[in-house]
Amino acid sequence: MPDPIALVPLPRRVQWLPGEPVRVEHLIVGDSAAEVALGKLATERLRSVLPLTPRSEADPQATAGALVFRLTDAGEPGSYTVTAGEHGILVEAGDIAGLRHGLATVRQLFQPGTGTTSVPPVRIEDAPALGWRGLSLDIARHFFGPDELHTVIELLADHKYNVLHLHLSDDQGWRIDLPSHPELVDRSGKSAVDGDPGGYLTAAEYRELVAFAAARGITVVPEIDVPGHVNAALHAMPELTPTGEAPDVYTGIEVGFSKLTADLPATEPFLRDVFGDLADLTPGDYLHIGGDEVLTMEKSEYARLVDMAARAVRDAGKQVIGWQEIATVPLEPGTVVQYWEPKEDLSFFAEAARAGARFIMSPGSKAYLDMKYHEGFPLGLQWAGFVPLQVSYEWEPTALIDGVPAEAVLGVEAAVWTETLRTLDDLTTMLLPRLAAVAEVAWTPADRRDWDDFAQRIAALAPDWRARGLAFHPAEPVAWPEG
Ligand code: ACM
Repeated sequence: MPDPIALVPLPRRVQWLPGEPVRVEHLIVGDSAAEVALGKLATERLRSVLPLTPRSEADPQATAGALVFRLTDAGEPGSYTVTAGEHGILVEAGDIAGLRHGLATVRQLFQPGTGTTSVPPVRIEDAPALGWRGLSLDIARHFFGPDELHTVIELLADHKYNVLHLHLSDDQGWRIDLPSHPELVDRSGKSAVDGDPGGYLTAAEYRELVAFAAARGITVVPEIDVPGHVNAALHAMPELTPTGEAPDVYTGIEVGFSKLTADLPATEPFLRDVFGDLADLTPGDYLHIGGDEVLTMEKSEYARLVDMAARAVRDAGKQVIGWQEIATVPLEPGTVVQYWEPKEDLSFFAEAARAGARFIMSPGSKAYLDMKYHEGFPLGLQWAGFVPLQVSYEWEPTALIDGVPAEAVLGVEAAVWTETLRTLDDLTTMLLPRLAAVAEVAWTPADRRDWDDFAQRIAALAPDWRARGLAFHPAEPVAWPEG
């Protein structure tokens, strides 16, 4: 039987069953705090397709026509099953993450945006291929605030992502108010590329955002980029420069010119303060230290500064992530290295793997969703090449770099840099549909992935995006439905 409904990312096993369309009216969840929160989330996420009344499991009238979320004691982390049949719809999982993944699948089964109010009988068994499924989002070149970030977080949850990595500082702006150094946002929070308006998250907004994301199964990984990409910090804190003079605000899009200085007395306290504050505000296990594109620094000084930043993170009780450049200097075992730049000689990755590093894969030529879809596309850059939809889909993260074994690969991050992206429409135009393609690379095992099949399925998500007012690029060669 051909699939009556398109699911993205594709689950491990989908068995369409004979029988009448399934309708549900009630919602049943357990009474632990986490299950009650899941019930609230389910009501909210499904509201546009079907209004659900909460019922107690003890209510005999609720046994038929219910959407039931049930925790069991079986299953690998994040896995779930969905069974839709005469009884209603049952989602079962061994953990809350799995129930949330089941919710995302149930939402797709209702084909939001199409007016459909029933689902065909089906049995789905599903589990993630990779544990780390993230989006790295630059809110430094252009600022995106809480409302826009909520929209991004919901899109991530729809596609079973579980990490939002926020790039919170760069040459052009500093985007988080940290208690130890309010001058960072006072002096550098309002600038952005091209002199556009900037902005920043207050500590309270950041905490709220982290909680909003957590309720949707998404961990926020904050990045303060050091020892390069620091013009905004130097502008706000001239004691971080050798002359003691503040450089001008920077609104261009060149990279690699700004840097910390290891031998200044203010440098190490700055690193300890900002990563300490960030650790206090962040419940997740990881802080990202950046480390990329420091083009005018001796390697020995780079190594010292990376070590200072990494120690500040570890001393604050968190684990360290950095862009691939940090793998060119000695690292503690367990450090997470994020691949981004395809280079001819990537042998330093194999050395880092032998020394116990772990890896997140964000190849610029595949997963950088700020690359233009094609020549002449009005938004985005093209330094890593064009990234049409098919290119963002066809790659295997566990077999990308010689000498990096599959066991050392935590997972995947798509990335979107915002030099050319000013509005939420600009941002979602670059994300959609490629965010869904990278989601499938991270979630669905390689032997289940097929480009032609994906190109058919992805079209079915357009009505939902349209109903939510989300701009997307009708990428070739997909036959997008008329809108
Ligand atoms: C990067 O794109 N500079 C990590």
